[in-house]
Amino acid sequence: MAQSFSTTIAKPTSIFTSTPSSPLCTLVFVVILCILGLYTLQHHHRPEPQPVSNSTPKQSSSKNDFRDIFLTAATNNTLSSYLRALTLHPHLAGTPQAVQTALYVETHFRDLGLQTHVKHYNALLSYPTHASLSAHFSDGTIKDVALVEQGVAGDDDVVRPYHAYSPSGSAYGRAVFVNYGREEDYRALLAQGVSVSGCVAVARRGDLSRNSVVEKAAEKGMAAVLMYAETEGFSGGVERGTVMKGLGDPLTPGWASSSVDVDVDVDGERLGLDDNEVVSRFPKIPSMPISADSAETILRSLEGARVPYEWRANLKSKVARAGPGPTMLNFTYQGVKKMATIHNVFAIIRGSEEPDRFVLLGNHRDAWTYGSVDPNSGTAALLDIARRYALLLRLGWNPRRSIVLCSWDAEEFGMIGSTEWVEQNLVNLGSKAVAYLNVDCAVQGPGFFAGATPQLDNLLVEVTKKVDHVKDPDSEDVSLYERWTTTNKRVNIQRLSGVDSDFAPFLQHAGVPSIDLYYGRDFPVYHTAFDSYNWMIKYGDPLFQRHVAVTGVWGLLALHLADDAVLPLNYISYAAQLLEYTNMLSNLLEGSASVHPITASIQELATAAKEAEEEAKKLRGEETLGNVLVLKKRTLNDRLMSAERGFLDGEGLQGRQWFKHLVYGPSCDHESKMLFFPGIFDAVYQSRRMTNKRQGQAAIQHEIWRVARAIQRAAYALRGELT
Ligand SMILES: *[C@@H]1O[C@H](CO)[C@@H](O)[C@H](O)[C@H]1NC(C)=O
Ligand SMILES: *[C@@H]1O[C@H](CO)[C@@H](O)[C@H](O)[C@H]1NC(C)=O
Repeated sequence: MAQSFSTTIAKPTSIFTSTPSSPLCTLVFVVILCILGLYTLQHHHRPEPQPVSNSTPKQSSSKNDFRDIFLTAATNNTLSSYLRALTLHPHLAGTPQAVQTALYVETHFRDLGLQTHVKHYNALLSYPTHASLSAHFSDGTIKDVALVEQGVAGDDDVVRPYHAYSPSGSAYGRAVFVNYGREEDYRALLAQGVSVSGCVAVARRGDLSRNSVVEKAAEKGMAAVLMYAETEGFSGGVERGTVMKGLGDPLTPGWASSSVDVDVDVDGERLGLDDNEVVSRFPKIPSMPISADSAETILRSLEGARVPYEWRANLKSKVARAGPGPTMLNFTYQGVKKMATIHNVFAIIRGSEEPDRFVLLGNHRDAWTYGSVDPNSGTAALLDIARRYALLLRLGWNPRRSIVLCSWDAEEFGMIGSTEWVEQNLVNLGSKAVAYLNVDCAVQGPGFFAGATPQLDNLLVEVTKKVDHVKDPDSEDVSLYERWTTTNKRVNIQRLSGVDSDFAPFLQHAGVPSIDLYYGRDFPVYHTAFDSYNWMIKYGDPLFQRHVAVTGVWGLLALHLADDAVLPLNYISYAAQLLEYTNMLSNLLEGSASVHPITASIQELATAAKEAEEEAKKLRGEETLGNVLVLKKRTLNDRLMSAERGFLDGEGLQGRQWFKHLVYGPSCDHESKMLFFPGIFDAVYQSRRMTNKRQGQAAIQHEIWRVARAIQRAAYALRGELT
């Protein structure tokens, strides 16, 4: 369906125009001009960039007007046209079509009159060259298993399903079903007397990362892994994905890949492919995604051990036996790892009063296939925010701080575009980044979801309330906020310990307060060739109202962070969240280590947070503005901004030094449900495998102290005084 679609679309050039042209857009534009007209009548003049000392309360009311204009300038039609243009062709990172989307985004920014900038990197990517799979059944028949997706087989542009960075190799072995491929799944098999060594694993996709599934299988002596995704009412799609461990270009761990700017043509340091550190990022055995239908055919032919009882509860296929065998699988995968140029595209709106403070909005642009949900629903939102900000600028808006719109490349391979950029800009981000607002798959289906670092909770809630004129697209007369709260009984803000999108380098490496937003979750066409514009207009967001809603929240969050004289960051909720974590940790440790050091430093943070909030309230209320007051606000803002950096630790997590954040980051135990204090849970995990219990406990206690010191650093930064 995606293929036929790409032939029936208007010329791409027609979408390069950024001025609204449909009657509806024109109408909206006229309405906005009327609002402006009213505004100028009231104020007698258009707002001019004001020198700092001249700021008046009047200006803050004008900021409100601009926020209203931002919201009323929403149009579902522009969003749909951007998405249509972006999804005309597949645009896998490193391919010529990916360059076209970079150009499209760059042209859009430039046509709007925004300062535009492209940053290229050379990074190691991975592509398939050949794959085959056949099943040899016990009755002697041999069946070739299709490794392409039905219905899109003719489109040469869609990359065949594969796992990026899988080693090339062949395997011939008995098939065995390993459920989600977790440790407990192998334990269940072992309990049934199943030996998996030398077999080819068939695994369904669960919460575990692809890399973890393959590494675990290799640990068990398996020869290869085939993965399939269970999707409700949708089969035939095959889920691509990366099996690389860690983030960023594998050849430049911790530093930026060489830039390929014309004026800086010095090639940077790069590890060799055989370097141990590089080798350790890739699995040792080949793997491949297959369709649920193909998996079903293989699984139904298995005999041997019964499928463990616990697996059956939510198993979509009627598989009775887990194997191994008698079906034999003959699997070959050939791929290449090669250097490719990737392109991050930026639009910069310079702040008028604090140009050296940055509010960053980011979304990746590269897709496994057409990328209608993942990630270009988010790109469409980013482009619409650019359009609406450009409109505000034309109406006289001057943001106080700088706003940077970021369009990342090669996220699908392991957050490569954003990670290289964060590594390259680490010092500037550390001293100047106010917040990073991420949107990846903006619209996957119904329901609003959000994740944030806790000092942004209040802002997130307040902003979602303000988008109340945007009715929740899925329930008439209910606002996005009401729907968000009722779905979960209370506001459910997730935390950002995962490494599944571009917020990870900003938060977990650079300590920048972050937010991640999306509508809907678990869409069936994830990473398949069916993630097309057609799917979006049929199922994902037929009227593009969910796009409107998420764009409104995203853009408004940034307006507050860029314009509020006192930053809307509140650490009282951070302290409360940390206390909740500490209680959970304490219950889990059952007295084997003392959490007291953490409790004590949370107390310090809570006190500092309360003082900062009181100070903020006072400064927000100050009517008269002078240089002293401006400096006071700036000083408080710097403390609010840099407190998050306190959670970073120079040495990072043990064995995974790139991860610097001691509160949020992935645990080395990929099956851990504890999404905080990764260093502590790493130590708990390792202590369980140690024979010397005292040594294990000492390691846990040491990690507890490290977290306590990190929280104390955040408290000191927030207080802003030397001890
Ligand atoms: C496995 O497949 C390869 C490639 O199709 C073929 O050359 C090889 O003979 C097969 N092995 C077995 C045991 O059938
Ligand atoms: C935009 O929304 C209006 C009103 O809901 C609807 O009639 C129109 O079809 C939508 N446009 C698109 C492109 O979905």
